[in-house]
Amino acid sequence: MQKLKEILKAHPGKREDIIPLLQDIQEEYGYLPENVLRELSKSTRVSEGQIYGIATFYAQFRFKPKGRKHVTVCTGTACHVKGSDQIIDTIKRHLKIEEGETTPDHEYSLEAVGCIGCCSLAPCAMINEKVISRIKPRQIKRLLPKKGHRVST
Ligand code: FES
Repeated sequence: MQKLKEILKAHPGKREDIIPLLQDIQEEYGYLPENVLRELSKSTRVSEGQIYGIATFYAQFRFKPKGRKHVTVCTGTACHVKGSDQIIDTIKRHLKIEEGETTPDHEYSLEAVGCIGCCSLAPCAMINEKVISRIKPRQIKRLLPKKGHRVST
């Protein structure tokens, strides 16, 4: 809870700063851990229900840790037109997770986002910081190999 204490120091006594506090917590922990939110509730005297109400309203907040490989699929207009829905569906079927989820082995997590700034190369996705341009559904198994599965190249 040392990290949380430092975050709270940056927003002393500001109950109305729940969103910046949640942003800082997510920045530090990678997501919003349940025990940290409980502590935040005690420190700010904002009920856990209110904190969850705020956090669930905004798509930016995560309640589960990201996978070692965080897969981000662009669903902006250019990528949507070029078939980003198919990419997401293929990844969901392949990894057996939904958007916002992480595989049980914590290897992969999946998120859909707005434009990532490479529209001329649509459809695009990212695996951590690496952009994959003109991605096709048939590439998914090779790009996201599962442990214990042999990958042919
Ligand atoms: S819409 Fe996908 S990169 Fe811009």
